Amino acid sequence: MKKNLKLIQNNLVELLENKKILITGGAGFIGGTLIRRLLKKSEAKIYNLDKLTYCSDLQSINQLLKNSKNKNNRYSFYKIDLFNQKELLEIICNIKPDIIMHLAAESHVDRSIDNADLFLKSNVIGTYNLLEAVKKYYSSLKNEKKNKFIFHHISTDEVFGTLGDSGKFNEETNYNPRSPYSATKASSDHLVRSWYHTFNLPIIITNCSNNFGPWQFPEKLIPLVIRKAILKEKIPIYGDGLNIRDWLFVEDHIDALLLVIIFGNAGETYCVGGGEEKTNIDIVKKICKYLDLKLNPTNSYLTQIDYVADRPGHDYRYSIDSSLIKKNLGWIPEHNFDTALFKTIDWYINNQNWCEKKIKDSGYQLERIGN
Ligand code: NAD
Ligand code: DAU
Repeated sequence: MKKNLKLIQNNLVELLENKKILITGGAGFIGGTLIRRLLKKSEAKIYNLDKLTYCSDLQSINQLLKNSKNKNNRYSFYKIDLFNQKELLEIICNIKPDIIMHLAAESHVDRSIDNADLFLKSNVIGTYNLLEAVKKYYSSLKNEKKNKFIFHHISTDEVFGTLGDSGKFNEETNYNPRSPYSATKASSDHLVRSWYHTFNLPIIITNCSNNFGPWQFPEKLIPLVIRKAILKEKIPIYGDGLNIRDWLFVEDHIDALLLVIIFGNAGETYCVGGGEEKTNIDIVKKICKYLDLKLNPTNSYLTQIDYVADRPGHDYRYSIDSSLIKKNLGWIPEHNFDTALFKTIDWYINNQNWCEKKIKDSGYQLERIGN
């Protein structure tokens, strides 16, 4: 099994030969990383369907496409809101994809607490619309194209709720979402699974832990802390800072997603976690100490840490048991956590203009209501 990982890293051209891959949410953080990998390492045709919300970014992909005719010919972008089922069906039937990877979603917990409306529209109705369109498209397929078709739904560990000091989530864990965001992701998982059982749509679901890496919109903990530290602003820590997340470097996640679409079987679910459990305060201190070494400020960045009101319904701990994807598909998270974190911090230091432009263009209010 272990050889699978090397195969998807080194032989993606053969493994995805003649494939058309439709990706929703490809202008987002994980979708963009996935598309860049596919453009660099495969010869598959890539179709990116995205609404382009406040956090989207096409620069990372466009930068790669510049000066590469070969990659340009293999990539198409469609600006579309999944709320629009009719347009969705037309696009899918025109493209005739072999694989669909569904990443589009509203993804930030704090925003779902402020206003859940868009989360219901994009994550629940959007997924429903996509499933309906894909069901119609799938029923038109024949022979090998039909037998090999796969719909991969990318979801989160938050659907399982929260853990105490021990235990881990796995594929058998009951759903128990506790934020508007995770409730909408749980709903989308249920919809996807029911389209498999009721309509025989060949689906696979993955539930992963907190991703980090370059090009992530600076509202999530790691990029937010790096940015606020560099700007000499207060670094907000919710509650006592002892909540725990299981961190996953985004490139390791992409390995898992590729293993799933190439070696996974319809009806399966895989949990994917980095196995790097850290308290929030530990992460924040690690970032500050690295920045101290790197930028040598007059006062340590640690002095900017500010404990603020807790997030309502704040899940205490996430931890993933990734045994199944390791055993069945040969996945392992290959990157060392500290090295990947420091590489990510370096990227944000070198791309401050990108960050500030993203925030300005998005018009997004980054402070949580109540702080
Ligand atoms: P992101 O917020 O960076 O990007 C999401 C993308 O989806 C954006 O480009 C946005 O424009 C698009 N989108 C949103 N609503 C849409 C709609 N109605 N129609 C079309 N496009 C729409 O998210 P991400 O961090 O890249 O996460 C990708 C997926 O992975 C999401 O489904 C998320 O729930 C899941 N996930 C993320 C993490 C994480 O740590 N980032 C962890 C577990 C699961
Ligand atoms: O577990 C996977 C999920 O991880 C994904 O499904 C979500 O899309 C993604 O947003 C993320 O959710 P979290 O709520 O865990 O991530 P966030 O980066 O918002 O917060 C991480 C932890 O840090 C959490 O315990 C809250 C805390 N936090 C966050 C922010 C933004 C702070 O203490 N201060 C902050 O300013």
